Amino acid sequence: MASSNVGFHSLASCLVFFLLPWTFAEGGKLLVIPIDSSYWLSMRPVVERLRRRGHEIVVLVPEINLRIGLSGHYTMKTYSVPYTKEYVEAEELIKSLGESKFEAVFMDPFFPCGQIVAEHLSLPSVYLVRGLPCSLDFHATLCPHPPSYIPRFFTRYTDRMGFLQRVGNLLDFNYGCALCWQEFEAIVNASGEHGIVVFSLGSMVSEIPIKKAKEIADALGTVPQTVLWRYTGQVPPNLPKNVKLVKWLPQNDLLAHPKTRAFITHGGSHGIYEGICNAVPMVLMPLFGDQMDNAKRIESRGAGLTLNVLEMTTKDISTALQTVINDKKSVIETQPFSFYPV
Ligand SMILES: *[C@@H]1O[C@H](CO)[C@@H](O)[C@H](O)[C@H]1NC(C)=O
Repeated sequence: MASSNVGFHSLASCLVFFLLPWTFAEGGKLLVIPIDSSYWLSMRPVVERLRRRGHEIVVLVPEINLRIGLSGHYTMKTYSVPYTKEYVEAEELIKSLGESKFEAVFMDPFFPCGQIVAEHLSLPSVYLVRGLPCSLDFHATLCPHPPSYIPRFFTRYTDRMGFLQRVGNLLDFNYGCALCWQEFEAIVNASGEHGIVVFSLGSMVSEIPIKKAKEIADALGTVPQTVLWRYTGQVPPNLPKNVKLVKWLPQNDLLAHPKTRAFITHGGSHGIYEGICNAVPMVLMPLFGDQMDNAKRIESRGAGLTLNVLEMTTKDISTALQTVINDKKSVIETQPFSFYPV
């Protein structure tokens, strides 16, 4: 009995010994490009499982990020931030990625960096995505999404819809994006000669303490512009008439509108590039990460003014906003500015 057990064990070890190299030999080389958000928490287990199956994995992340840390499951490569420009220019990095001979890219396609890299390296990609605005994910994948059965974003419907819900879903399906843009356009049109101010603290922060929100609301009431504020927190009781709170706004489209006079932003790299491209002066309220540096750079080029979020008063906000809107000298010769990298 004992001897047959020993025999079994050595046979098993032999099998393992011979099979192991096979498992590794079948492993591929995978480049992973996540975005720094909670969606990484869904990607990470997939990456770990792939590693356990013997694949070799490199995760490409911004040098400053909140959620993606080192791990024994993958090699991490970083690129500097703000990255929109440096990313393309990081020749060394791109060259080394090319030389690594990856077989595929696994990415979160919410921001298009992953797709650009995959296209550049001529690699097939696999997306892990919750959804993209305007059902772009369905269109891009040619995936059927009948409105009778597949609920649209923000409708809160499930796949079991009653008649009226299906009608609502159908309308949202056909007109969703066009309608919301028309609503924004109507607000912009109604703003008259003074135009509008676009205010968003980015996709990660849309709620702020109510005390701060009240101070900000008071300041916004001191300008004649209509302010479109992306904000989902408790509505400040002193919200002035010229301020419209929205849960989402088409930031780049609004910034591109000739009636847009200023952009209040936290100074994230996407936002500031959109501000620069559209030559809109900015009031910067940096919160964390690369935002302080971004804000100071924008300020040093005369494209905006930076506020200290913790210390700013109603008066500070109001003065900064009025300055960027009215004082052409202190703000920008925005046109030439848009040609310089920050
Ligand atoms: C806004 O104004 C433009 C230019 O006058 C016009 O073409 C457009 O239809 C208006 N849009 C809305 C929604 O009122």
